[in-house]
Amino acid sequence: MLILEIEEVSAGYGMGPDILSRVSVRFEAGLIHCLIGPNGAGKSTLLRVIAGLLRPRSGRVLLEGKVISGLRPDQILAHGICLVPQDRSLFPDMTVRENLLMGGYIERDQRQVSRRMEEVLEIFPEVRRHLNHRAGTLSGGEQQMVAIARGLMVHPRVMMLDEPSLGLAPLVVDRIFEAISRLKTMGITVLIVEQNVRKGLAYADRGYVLDMGRLSFEGPAREVMEDPRLQELYLGRMVLSNREVQG
Ligand SMILES: Nc1ncnc2c1ncn2[C@@H]1O[C@H](COP(=O)(O)OP(=O)(O)O)[C@@H](O)[C@H]1O
Ligand SMILES: [Mg+2]
Repeated sequence: MLILEIEEVSAGYGMGPDILSRVSVRFEAGLIHCLIGPNGAGKSTLLRVIAGLLRPRSGRVLLEGKVISGLRPDQILAHGICLVPQDRSLFPDMTVRENLLMGGYIERDQRQVSRRMEEVLEIFPEVRRHLNHRAGTLSGGEQQMVAIARGLMVHPRVMMLDEPSLGLAPLVVDRIFEAISRLKTMGITVLIVEQNVRKGLAYADRGYVLDMGRLSFEGPAREVMEDPRLQELYLGRMVLSNREVQG
């Protein structure tokens, strides 16, 4: 079943050129989708359009067949689409508990918020250990885990993660991807933007390659990984090191 449809979306910033040019993509409910592509391809921009942080210049975004492009970011969040941005956007001077509570701000009923926090902590015991610590004192991997947990506070149906492994040690990256797999078992549809192509595609069901603001190709993650066009894209432009493409 389709959950999100991006239809012919063009978008850019201010008076600048189109960063996305007539991008059409469809995402299936309950799967992990991995968006890859060179730096500047427009991956983060696509997530921002879906989250309502940037209005498309043309085209539309549909959630279960209903148009959501044009809605405000808080309305889109209330529809169950949550974005964990690249910088994770935690409040470093607040405790982990306070950060999680901020994540639940759209829910007015405090008992509901507490109940939800308990559910989230059941799924992320590694976050519970740090509940009373200031978020800024945690390691990068722990902060990423908190950012995901905070996103879960709103009961999202779609969780978008922009480069969740950025700056993390390989062992920690695996833990983050295992956490992302847990989202799938919860029935959440996942969209990940990932520079670590091999790792991202290894955990994903489907892969999408964005290049210069256009959808270049897509398919089952394993097929995308083995597609010669992927090697060309990265090696040809020297954007990623050989190590990252060939593992
Ligand atoms: N806030 C912004 N204002 C103007 N240009 C931006 C802004 N954010 C991104 N861009 C430009 O949009 C292009 C695509 O950026 P982005 O979507 O972040 O790419 P990616 O995430 O694939 O690396 C880049 O050329 C970038 O400079
Ligand atoms: Mg980006």
